Amino acid sequence: MGAVVVTEHPLIRHKLGLVRMKQTEPWLFRQLVNEITYLMLYEATRNLRTRPIPIETPLASTTAEWLDDDVVVVPILRAGLGMLDGFLRLIPLAKVGFVGIYRDHESLEPVEYYCKVPELRKSQVYVLDPMLATGGSAVAAASSLKARGATSIRHLCLLAAPEGINALHAAHPDVEIYCAHIDERLDEQGYIVPGIGDCGDRLFWTR
Ligand code: PRP
Ligand code: URA
Repeated sequence: MGAVVVTEHPLIRHKLGLVRMKQTEPWLFRQLVNEITYLMLYEATRNLRTRPIPIETPLASTTAEWLDDDVVVVPILRAGLGMLDGFLRLIPLAKVGFVGIYRDHESLEPVEYYCKVPELRKSQVYVLDPMLATGGSAVAAASSLKARGATSIRHLCLLAAPEGINALHAAHPDVEIYCAHIDERLDEQGYIVPGIGDCGDRLFWTR
């Protein structure tokens, strides 16, 4: 398995347990997915650069640290939208792009149907998708963003399957993966086990 950062924290573990429970209602499910994303960002943004700027406090002149990296966040439609509010709450100045990808139900192959992104060349790009299952969608998203100029990509997910981590790292070894937990395996339909079920359906109440 390739390198992956599991963002371990008691609050993340607790909230992830609630997300997994099948009786958790959509309003709470949405809130928890955003809260976990917010907490994961503490680790996933650790390497962002800052530069000193001169400022005045009420008492004296000093220097403050200012975020120096351009941040672009790209949720993979649909389920990645469930992480976007949490991300923007912490980094409100991030630019937002979108890539639409779904898994073909038979082949499990990714199908890209939409892509609209800002300038990516000099930006730190964060891809959001709660589920890294076979890895097909994540690989397709990274390929698409690199083709549009991205040079630094971090992939944020709630749950990752070992198969998905391996696939993403095999295709894009430079992409850093951050997840809240690595689950056991995929089932025959490509669902993560024990997982949380179909994340898009649970977020948007479309079952
Ligand atoms: C889900 C999920 C990921 C993808 C992960 O999307 O949101 O994008 O599956 O699976 P993979 O790693 O095997 O590619 P889905 O196809 O259900 O589309 P949706 O988000 O529009 O519901
Ligand atoms: N997509 C989901 O929504 N859930 C999974 O378990 C796998 C892919």
